[in-house]
Amino acid sequence: MSLSNAAVRDIETVIHPYTNLDTFRTTGPMIIERGEGIYVFDNGGNKYIEGLAGLWCTSLGYNEKELMEAAAEQYRQIPFTHTFGGKSHERAAEAAERLKAIAPHAASKVLFCGSGSEANDQQVKLVWYYNNALGRTKKKKFISRIRGYHGVTVASASLTGLPANHRDFDLPMAGVIHTDCPHYYRYAEPGETEDEFTTRLAKNLEETIIREDPDTVAAFIAEPIMGAGGVVVPPAGYFEKIQAVLKKYDVYFIADEVICGFGRTGNMFGSETFNMKPDSISVAKALSSAYFPIAAVTVGEEMYQAMIEESRKIGIFGHGFTYTAHPVGAAIAAKTLEIYEKRNIVGHVRSVQPTFEARVARLADHPLVGHTRACGLIGAIELVANKSDKRAFDPAAGIGAAVVAAAQRNGLILRALAGDIVAFCPPLIITNEQVNEMFDAVEKALDEVEAHVTKEGLRAA
Ligand SMILES: Cc1ncc(COP(=O)(O)O)c(C=O)c1O
Repeated sequence: MSLSNAAVRDIETVIHPYTNLDTFRTTGPMIIERGEGIYVFDNGGNKYIEGLAGLWCTSLGYNEKELMEAAAEQYRQIPFTHTFGGKSHERAAEAAERLKAIAPHAASKVLFCGSGSEANDQQVKLVWYYNNALGRTKKKKFISRIRGYHGVTVASASLTGLPANHRDFDLPMAGVIHTDCPHYYRYAEPGETEDEFTTRLAKNLEETIIREDPDTVAAFIAEPIMGAGGVVVPPAGYFEKIQAVLKKYDVYFIADEVICGFGRTGNMFGSETFNMKPDSISVAKALSSAYFPIAAVTVGEEMYQAMIEESRKIGIFGHGFTYTAHPVGAAIAAKTLEIYEKRNIVGHVRSVQPTFEARVARLADHPLVGHTRACGLIGAIELVANKSDKRAFDPAAGIGAAVVAAAQRNGLILRALAGDIVAFCPPLIITNEQVNEMFDAVEKALDEVEAHVTKEGLRAA
């Protein structure tokens, strides 16, 4: 295969995240040139449905004029001014007010940053700061979950519970403990009901806290639905049982809403869908519909008062990025949140969610599909070699990647996650008709890969 000039330039200059850097030198990049609604076009003019909304983020699609205009207007007014040392600009408060108004807990203030990783990093620092302010100097450990995804900075990658984010990076750092993943299909014991499964997980969490010493356990972080770890939708009752344990040991609860926030699960926040009562949330991605790298954490009144107390003691809140509450990002975030409200994005998701969920569920009949899951406009299929004993394919066979490649040939961009899981997470503006178009392509892709699996005898144990 001969590579285009653009591909060669890319190979020789750019390091690509989450890419096999060795094979990439032969395959080269897929270069996306432009977008329109839920579609993107590559540099060969081919059209694709963006079935993962980029990286679970382009909620309003690829040519939302109001967002472009909000950015242009802010650039014209002033492209940069900061929020250090008491300086500000009006867009910061506008975005913060809108976020506070819809947050799934009593948010007092908002601390902006640039990415989901930074948001979760800030969460770690704020919890440490808060507990120091309260004189609880030993209460510093974090509990997150196996297969959870919280980002890639030193602290947030430590919270992440995926091997590729730790291996040879000398992570996780000390003081981060990983507890069970609520993936019933994969981790339930034989004969265990969902209720027994979630009771066991809550019991394990309690035992972990006791073993570590409750006086040293500060916080627990969880995505409502695990995204990058495999689109794991927790069984009913899971978060209620987990939260009872957290409450008992005074453990601060952070909901990582970076994927689930802003309508994705059929409510404004995943916390509402799963009856979570967090002390704080991390948001990013759809906060600006990915039109600008902006993210945030919410801060409750108690935490805020402790931060004020620290300022009295130390003289300053010694944290912040050059681009904290960047005016263009804040203007876009404020406009994005305004659009969610005025166009009733949650109502729209609910109107297409039945088609989406039904089309995902229908894939369970396919010989390659061991499990399907969907909630709102996020879903996944888990591909297996044997449906009855759930035996996985040899990872080297790359069956998940083969389905993604076949989907791409059929005009649909998807993403394969570890464990031959293929994720679906289209822009929230998708219509019922487009959902059908998307899953027609998924079915074709599965049939093509099934033919390949049969021909090559890849099901052999
Ligand atoms: C739930 C969750 N938290 C945090 C992050 C990290 O966000 P970012 O890639 O913006 O640093 C992600 C990214 O996919 C995510 O899915």
